[in-house]
Amino acid sequence: MKIVLVCAVLAVLATVSTSSIVKSPTSRASLYYGYVGPGDRLLNRTYVQKAAIPNTIQSQDVAYRGNFTTKITAIQVVEIGYTQWATPWLIAGGIGGNNVTIRVQSARGYGYYYVIDIWGR
Ligand SMILES: *[C@@H]1O[C@H](CO)[C@@H](O)[C@H](O)[C@H]1NC(C)=O
Ligand SMILES: *[C@@H]1O[C@H](CO)[C@@H](O)[C@H](O)[C@H]1NC(C)=O
Ligand SMILES: *[C@@H]1O[C@H](CO)[C@@H](O)[C@H](O)[C@H]1NC(C)=O
Repeated sequence: MKIVLVCAVLAVLATVSTSSIVKSPTSRASLYYGYVGPGDRLLNRTYVQKAAIPNTIQSQDVAYRGNFTTKITAIQVVEIGYTQWATPWLIAGGIGGNNVTIRVQSARGYGYYYVIDIWGR
């Protein structure tokens, strides 16, 4: 009986922690999608940086929106400097579209420093 109770409590804890922390599907420090082809231009370059805060996971979304003729061909989210084990991932739009949204999330107790390049026509 006691063991069943402990298991139930653990299950509840597990559910709470997975729903409160948005976990990325990949865990790579940098992210590369697509290829920069001839005629492609750098459409936008954005730097995102956050200093470490003890015991805290920080995150932010970076969106790029082109016009109706824009075609995104490559997305490069590159970590600058020493690794801080942060994770970027694609949450909306992407290659072949005219918009893209990248989420950058730090490891707990760390910061991050990225350059996000959007290439296309
Ligand atoms: C890139 O995007 C950021 C915000 O997303 C904007 O402030 C900046 O002006 C853009 N830069 C260029 C060159 O379009
Ligand atoms: C649409 O965006 C592209 C870049 O993707 C730019 O070259 C073009 O001038 C823009 N067109 C207009 C009408 O703003
Ligand atoms: C963003 O791009 C996706 C395709 O990558 C498209 O389906 C969607 O309509 C676009 N959203 C906006 C607001 O343009």
